[in-house]
Amino acid sequence: MATAVQREPAGISVDYVNEPDASSRSHSGKGTEACPGLKLVRVVAVSFGLLCILQVTLNVCLRVFVYPPAENKLKELTDQYFKQGWVYLHPGLYYVSSTSNTWHESRKDCLQRQADLVVINTKEEQDFTRKFNRFIWIGLFNNTKTRRWTWVDGTPLTKSYWGPEEPNNLENNSELCVESRFFNQDNSWNDIGCTNKNFWICEKNLAL
Ligand code: BGC
Ligand code: CA
Repeated sequence: MATAVQREPAGISVDYVNEPDASSRSHSGKGTEACPGLKLVRVVAVSFGLLCILQVTLNVCLRVFVYPPAENKLKELTDQYFKQGWVYLHPGLYYVSSTSNTWHESRKDCLQRQADLVVINTKEEQDFTRKFNRFIWIGLFNNTKTRRWTWVDGTPLTKSYWGPEEPNNLENNSELCVESRFFNQDNSWNDIGCTNKNFWICEKNLAL
């Protein structure tokens, strides 16, 4: 097979006007080849950018799926309690029984709910116990050792809401438990025998 080869005539040199000369070629499009430092900077910058995006994505995932913010946790928790009949009133959650029982059995029920009978520290809590127009056990009892009125959390009684003439220990010197009885009055408490049957209120403080 014949091959045609076109040669330049001997002694004639062709000047390729559009061909960049050697000096300008080194700074053209593929200049980074001649300047590897620049290429490295670009690679590092792009990698850094990608790492940042990855980190942000990871943070968002952790926040949403693994460590949800405290408010979400609180909402989840309170939603569960509301479904079980608890109501929120600062500073705690309160459960109002729908049946009646003795003071000790009522307390047992509260303890089983990871709570205790209500400790009244504020006027709001006191008024809450009167809202139900019922005799209601509260977490106050006469400590037979110290003969002092004591809250179930171990604190002594300071601010009280005894009804008129109460506590009177009327029934055979054995009125050792306290109910909220005179619900039409601000001062509603009465000391009464612990084996009477009343409704009760449990209180749970949310320690988050
Ligand atoms: C109760 C007493 C109470 C009195 C008040 C009685 O029925 O047993 O504890 O002090 O009522 O009126
Ligand atoms: Ca009494």
